Amino acid sequence: MPRVDTSKTPVEFLTEKQAKAEHARLAAEISGHDARYYQHDAPSVSDAEYDALRRRYEAIEERFPDLRTLESLSLKVGAAPTGKFAKVRHTVPMLSLANAFSEEDVTDFVDRIRRFLKIPEDEILAITAEPKIDGLSMSLRYESGTLVRAATRGDGSEGEDVTANIKTLKSIPHQLKGKDVPAVCEIRGEVYMTKADFVALNKRQAAADEQIFANPRNSAAGSLRQKDPGITASRPLAFFAYAWGEMSEMPAETQSGMIEWMAARGFTTNPLMKTCRSVEDLIRYHRDMEARRAKLDYDIDGVVYKVDRLDLQERLGFVSRSPRWAIAHKFAAEQATTIVRGVLITVGRTGVLTPTAQLEPVTVGGVVVSNATLHNEDYIKGIGGNGEMLREGRDIRIGDTVIIQRAGDVIPQVVDVVLDKRPKDAKPYKFPKKCPCHLHTDVVREEVAGGGEGARNRCTGEFACPYQKIEHLKHFVSRRAFDIEGLGEKQIELFFEQEWLKEPADIFTLEARNKKIKLEEQEGFGELSVRNLFDAIAQRRNISLERFIYALGVRHIGETTAVALARGYGTWKAFHDAGLKLAKGDEETRSEMDALDQIGETVIDSLAAYFGEKHNLGIVERLTREVKIRDAEKPATDSVVAGKTVVFTGALEQMTRDEAKAGAERLGAKVAGSVSKKTDYVVAGPGAGSKLKDAQKHGVKVLSEDDWFKLIGR
Ligand code: IVH
Repeated sequence: MPRVDTSKTPVEFLTEKQAKAEHARLAAEISGHDARYYQHDAPSVSDAEYDALRRRYEAIEERFPDLRTLESLSLKVGAAPTGKFAKVRHTVPMLSLANAFSEEDVTDFVDRIRRFLKIPEDEILAITAEPKIDGLSMSLRYESGTLVRAATRGDGSEGEDVTANIKTLKSIPHQLKGKDVPAVCEIRGEVYMTKADFVALNKRQAAADEQIFANPRNSAAGSLRQKDPGITASRPLAFFAYAWGEMSEMPAETQSGMIEWMAARGFTTNPLMKTCRSVEDLIRYHRDMEARRAKLDYDIDGVVYKVDRLDLQERLGFVSRSPRWAIAHKFAAEQATTIVRGVLITVGRTGVLTPTAQLEPVTVGGVVVSNATLHNEDYIKGIGGNGEMLREGRDIRIGDTVIIQRAGDVIPQVVDVVLDKRPKDAKPYKFPKKCPCHLHTDVVREEVAGGGEGARNRCTGEFACPYQKIEHLKHFVSRRAFDIEGLGEKQIELFFEQEWLKEPADIFTLEARNKKIKLEEQEGFGELSVRNLFDAIAQRRNISLERFIYALGVRHIGETTAVALARGYGTWKAFHDAGLKLAKGDEETRSEMDALDQIGETVIDSLAAYFGEKHNLGIVERLTREVKIRDAEKPATDSVVAGKTVVFTGALEQMTRDEAKAGAERLGAKVAGSVSKKTDYVVAGPGAGSKLKDAQKHGVKVLSEDDWFKLIGR
């Protein structure tokens, strides 16, 4: 008998047998999405689609309660930890919220509460409303006012210990403000990245040929799940406090009172939180937030309502994975339908060709969209790098009607094609085989190691391709590189077109050549701005080694890697010599570089290739004649703590945590976030908790702050 596809059958029409199969199929699909979302920070479906799967799953269980076993997903939240970090058991589980999608769902929510508590219609029920932040939930444990542990949600019962990384966030206090702090206090909330910071981070990542994130949520997750807290520290993460876990005493009697208390203790709380007194108030709040959503600097995917009185919250309790006293009122997915008018190809610094769909302008969530990213050739063809694309098999053609979505509110994406509306003469899009520059250099297809992203098409023109040259120059003057005021992307484009600049060294000879160029006579320039520009350039003739290395724009060398290389080699000469030796295949240099923190094969291969190119050596040589490169502060190797691993814990009284870390690192020590067998010293201040115990367990030497100063001779 042919198998019937029941995946679209309404739940009420499923037979018991079909329901069982459909329940199992949905469980597998949802678990897959959970793993991609929670463990790999790479969702493959929109929130709306995920929610639809979850609702269908729950509707099946509602109709056939026997299917609700202990393994049921409806009893689980999120997914198990990834294994990179130590596991942490939550003393109070981190639960999830039920969803409301319509105004009717909100009315039902309030009615249910009134019925449950027997609150009559004419009695006011205060409910707080606040934005639902699209980030990662985090639990912060304070003992005697000191932050001792930060853990992710994980599966709700067990998360991951990300204390060292969380401590790098400026909006998270290491110490609770004020006196009389509870003995134990767990503050919960959301770690997120602002939209502006996300765009800037992706730009830097692209410049360094490193991983690009799909939305602010993924970049927050990726930034937090770093083995090296130094990387997390370099990523702009923020935190909103909105809930709590274990509390040895309760400082307030209402939800809003708790939030006020958190703010007084040093946390950032959401200023948009409001207390509502009726369903109409809640709905108005939802509409208001939906309208303001696009203008907020962080992503939100709905609003959360919570019963204000904590005694009522307690009486209401929980159902399976969510509290009865709270609900998330989601926003409609920001999608729209429009037509693809063309495909624009741009060439990046490393020659990668990126296609962008040129769309018939359309409004999505209050913003006019006329471009959408198409990622790469395979994405256009409808071939997911990991075979899980929603649009699998449906390619995108010029003339097609497509559904676009603002992923994470920032980069619009084409999520699907409406095949019924495809013009008869529409032909599959042919990815260019030649670079769009005037040289029409050949384009080659490169498979990306590790898969998942699809192949890249790269222009082979390298040094000849004007697009790559221009992008190189833009990178060279960018904020994290030479950062020359008055010389931004627009000026670089103009100067390049006019042939005043061809390579970085030319920036420093511009003033001498200005007699001929006469920049002050160009439109948009004047005597003063030209003077300022030349002064800004002159100031950068003296540059730090890490900025210089980063500015070269070697593939795979981002800011963090550049810092690691600068620290490792100390001087430009040492680094340059190492590069040349690498290019000649010197194994000793290779393993010496490999031993540096943060540096691996990809970077080494890339440096070897860079220094193996005569053209690059010329560029570097001409540039080093123009600038003076300052030596890096090289960690001392002769100090007693060089090469040792140190953990700081408890409240430090004579230095801040950052100072302690920086000081130890300057002396060549490695500062770790948790204690293990490999730890050499634990420096413990008052209030030190579990790490002190760990130190005793592993037989690690424990020092007071004074002992530490004595040891390092301060
Ligand atoms: S309250 C007991 N408030 O949404 C529930 N959650 O599906 C405590 N979230 O895991 C959560 N903004 O990551 C709450 N203002 C907010 C929130 C919020 C975002 C997330 C949180 C939670 C998920 C629930």
